[in-house]
Amino acid sequence: MSKAYEIVDHEYDVIVVGAGGAGLRATFGLSIKGLKTACITKVFPTRSHTVAAQGGISAALGNMGKDDWRWHFYDTVKGADWLGDQDAIEYMCREAMPSVIELEHYGVPFSRTETGHIYQRPFGGMTTEYGEGPPAHRTCAAADRTGHAILHTLYQQSLKNQAEFFVEYFALDLIRDLDGKISGVMAWNLDDGKIHRFKAQMVIIATGGYGRCYFSCTGAHTQTGDGNAMVLRAGLPLQDMEFIQFHPTGIYGAGALITEGVRGEGGYLTNSEGERFMERYAPHAKDLASRDVVSRSMTIEMNEGRGCGESKDFIHLHIEHLEPEVIAKRLPGISETAKIFAGVDVSREPIPVLPTVHYNMGGIPTNYMGEAVQPIKDNPDVVIPGLMAVGEAACVSVHGANRLGSNSLLDLVVFGRSAADRCAKVVTAGAKQQSLPKDSGDSVLDWLDARRHSKGTTSTAELRGEMQRTMQAHCAVFRTEQLMAEGVAKMASIWSRMNDIKVSDSGMIWNSDLVETLELDNLMAQALVSIHGALERKESRGGHAREDYPDRDDENWMKHSVAWLNDDGTSRFEFRPVHNYTLSDDVEAVPPKARVY
Ligand code: FUM
Repeated sequence: MSKAYEIVDHEYDVIVVGAGGAGLRATFGLSIKGLKTACITKVFPTRSHTVAAQGGISAALGNMGKDDWRWHFYDTVKGADWLGDQDAIEYMCREAMPSVIELEHYGVPFSRTETGHIYQRPFGGMTTEYGEGPPAHRTCAAADRTGHAILHTLYQQSLKNQAEFFVEYFALDLIRDLDGKISGVMAWNLDDGKIHRFKAQMVIIATGGYGRCYFSCTGAHTQTGDGNAMVLRAGLPLQDMEFIQFHPTGIYGAGALITEGVRGEGGYLTNSEGERFMERYAPHAKDLASRDVVSRSMTIEMNEGRGCGESKDFIHLHIEHLEPEVIAKRLPGISETAKIFAGVDVSREPIPVLPTVHYNMGGIPTNYMGEAVQPIKDNPDVVIPGLMAVGEAACVSVHGANRLGSNSLLDLVVFGRSAADRCAKVVTAGAKQQSLPKDSGDSVLDWLDARRHSKGTTSTAELRGEMQRTMQAHCAVFRTEQLMAEGVAKMASIWSRMNDIKVSDSGMIWNSDLVETLELDNLMAQALVSIHGALERKESRGGHAREDYPDRDDENWMKHSVAWLNDDGTSRFEFRPVHNYTLSDDVEAVPPKARVY
């Protein structure tokens, strides 16, 4: 079958898959280091989902009040509900300041204070004095379009540093050589239909999250976690996939994001009785508690009949009381979004919002240098040769069971850069590479071919909708054994129907029907390991809230789940210990304690 495809061969030192913030930061970092690098991306780089990040990027610059990276470290460990690896968290929080200053020097148009410094706003869970002081002004912002500003700057830097791009190429699968090392990527050029085989000493996955497993999601429709699925297909594991973040303020009905920066600027939530209910759930941090806490509180309000509207199924977010200049200067983007997607004039009326899938804490397990790892026998941290991962596709794990807002843009640039630095040490520019096995890529072309000519009875959109609604109903903010067991059974049946899919276009040029089908395959694999992982974890921690196991159980569950997807659609689990130690003596590891805001 596969012989029917013309294959174009390439050889690079490093291949980066994905051109969002992490992929671009890695790509031009590698070019600067003199490594021959290509970045493969299914969308034009500045259309990657990083463009939609709004509120900002965290760094303890202390421009608008006292701050310390150690407080940032503490907040992140606590926000992660003690599932984050503290060595990696130390690395990220310490590197935050130089990384943001570097972005400033690259040309990111940050908003400014009166004195000309980078403007910083409060964000959920970001505090001072190890949680004892007032909220930290730590989130560096370019109005409410920070991701847009950063992504465009990183792309400009990539062009400046002569990075090579393969734009609108859909990455199909990883290639493994005879020793099992990852040695390249197969990709499909959507524009002319040809298949490309990229050989490389190192492949860096930067394909983002898989939010589109769910029906209501703040992420782009392209967020299908293609790299994570390639890893599963290669027989490698993903980590902590049960931890899915619901952002408290997605627009009701549309899912579009309304930044947490709104609450950072003084916005607040009310229920149908006009009550600022967060005061009851988080007396200290109130509306600026961490996202999992706010999302759960909103859900309880709605479940107990205090939601707004006829069906009591949304919450009000207010900024009518803010000065018009603040809205115009700091929140211009969300004013427009609220008008378009909710028909709301934010200066006069509240925005209808509800918790919406926003971020995947889980992904490809890596160390803080970006190297992919997996547990083998007694060693939990065995480096997978030839494979790295950065950004939302990776699980470093700096976000543990719940990510703090504005730590994601930070993660992208810090670990994009550290992966490039690591490659400069372990990859030799221009080194001769082994020939690939003759049949390398054949199995993926068989898969492509089978999907391309699949003439079943179910359309891709129909099956995708069933998967999304199942995940939304059975693996959401609150979870129980029964609910998830039903979800697992439904997902097994939905998964089996992939073989009955109907692809009506069998062309190879701009075939969006086929692209969406391959993306559905990718989503399905991740949905399965996510819901299996959620059923497996018998405790509540961060974004994983089980009504039948309401407490965190450090004795039995302070460990990363590592999941392999079996051929029959079931999952196999092992566990890796959480790194409860730091990299240096500059900061002390934070021992677990009750997490209150
Ligand atoms: O609310 C926001 O602006 C989102 C930020 C983030 O997810 O880091």
